[in-house]
Amino acid sequence: MMDALVQLRSSLHRHGWWRTLALIPRNILFRLTDFDRKHGTNTGMQAEDDAGLPREHEGYEGAPPRLFHRIIRSLDIAPARYAFIDLGSGKGKALLLASHHPFRRIIGVEYNPRLDAIAAANARIYRHPERCMHRIETVCGDAGAFELPPGDLLIYLFNPFKAAIMERMLANLESALQADGERDVLVVYQNPTQRRLLDEAPFLERVAYREYRTRRLRKMPIGRVAVYRNH
Ligand SMILES: C[S@@+](CC[C@H](N)C(=O)[O-])C[C@H]1O[C@@H](n2cnc3c(N)ncnc32)[C@H](O)[C@@H]1O
Repeated sequence: MMDALVQLRSSLHRHGWWRTLALIPRNILFRLTDFDRKHGTNTGMQAEDDAGLPREHEGYEGAPPRLFHRIIRSLDIAPARYAFIDLGSGKGKALLLASHHPFRRIIGVEYNPRLDAIAAANARIYRHPERCMHRIETVCGDAGAFELPPGDLLIYLFNPFKAAIMERMLANLESALQADGERDVLVVYQNPTQRRLLDEAPFLERVAYREYRTRRLRKMPIGRVAVYRNH
């Protein structure tokens, strides 16, 4: 309540009455729908999130919930067969969302120790009626060198890194597939800036590419997703 009053006073000071009144519905909507406000978690972007990281890293941004669930549903898979692995898991937002689906395992790999610790705390805090997976495994390390677990995998990439790390990650995946080629591996690549590298990987086949749009609000574009499968 105090928060809201301070914000109102500062808005009046900066924007005056008319603009402040016009902004109220938008602010109410934000407060009602904001993920962290609702769940007591810390998944938002902060200026210090990307401080001091190598240039090959992309910055932190948490997965958008509705889009995430739309993507998972579009795969038409039985989640219980797959380990969900988020390479570049940040503060664990995609891991929290994955916990609504009955995956065999849920694992996040994050390079930045600060974000990894926040992800582990979020996994403990997050209560959602649709959460069905309690165990979320968080690993602090380089996704390009992560030893992939056995069995069927759903590897989720939300634009985590640039070409050099992606090449290492693909070489790592190729070795894992050579060791066990019988399994099913799906790679879901959201905002696929390094898509060419996956398109050219001889052990992967692109099975879908889709631009997602909002269902209402003038059908605005909200994300592009490429899906690959091993063969
Ligand atoms: C766009 S964020 C995605 C966060 C998370 N996947 C989600 O959807 O909520 C990308 C994350 O990848 C991490 N990252 C970048 N390079 C990495 C690497 N080599 N190993 C592990 N994590 C990395 C960044 O620190 C950042 O937190």
